[in-house]
Amino acid sequence: MKIKKTQFIKSSTSLEECPKGDFPEFVFFGRSNVGKSTLINAITNNQKLSKISSKPGKTQLINHFLINESFYLVDLPGYGWAKTSKENRIKWDKMSKNFLIKSHKLALLFILIDVRLKPQKIDLENINYLGKNNVPLNLIFTKCDKVKKEELKINVDSFINQILDSWEDLPKYFITSSTKRVGIDDILNQISDTINSITKK
Ligand code: GTP
Ligand code: MG
Repeated sequence: MKIKKTQFIKSSTSLEECPKGDFPEFVFFGRSNVGKSTLINAITNNQKLSKISSKPGKTQLINHFLINESFYLVDLPGYGWAKTSKENRIKWDKMSKNFLIKSHKLALLFILIDVRLKPQKIDLENINYLGKNNVPLNLIFTKCDKVKKEELKINVDSFINQILDSWEDLPKYFITSSTKRVGIDDILNQISDTINSITKK
């Protein structure tokens, strides 16, 4: 799939405020600073589309970007950021989960995992919670440029093993680096395959 047009549509504070219409949504969710906004920019080849920061907590709303006038990429606030107030954390968590569980247009959720880290409880809890609520999801390991091959394998394998403790079928997963453009085409292919399977239905 070629990205021909990228448009920022809207930042919303709730599902009700989100853009109306039928375009399918591909949503990016994960810990603060895991690289959600950077990945959206890499996928669209538009470094200015979503705001990025080296400090966690940059994205604070539900952001819809319309791609090729046919589907949305949606950037959400990160979770697990200890330095913001408890009220903020609860507010963002509720806003994101309500959107993820109730949006009728959600085609696929990508949950991002920082491949430099050992399995984090908060990631596993969120993946299990959203899976139990029947949200269709894939996993994306990010920042693979930051680890050696051996460490990458150890961290991916141990995460996958933890997932298999509670999942019958392993969700599809991708290993990526936005800075080195590793795995970006695989994500694009997954998006276009999902769009094709929706339109065939
Ligand atoms: P919040 O909006 O705070 O939830 O964060 P986010 O998940 O959107 O992260 P963001 O895209 O803002 O990136 C956080 C930091 O990670 C930035 O300094 C990025 O440059 C860096 N980063 C993102 N992806 C990669 C990657 O693939 N490799 C490397 N080395 N750095 C990355
Ligand atoms: Mg962000």
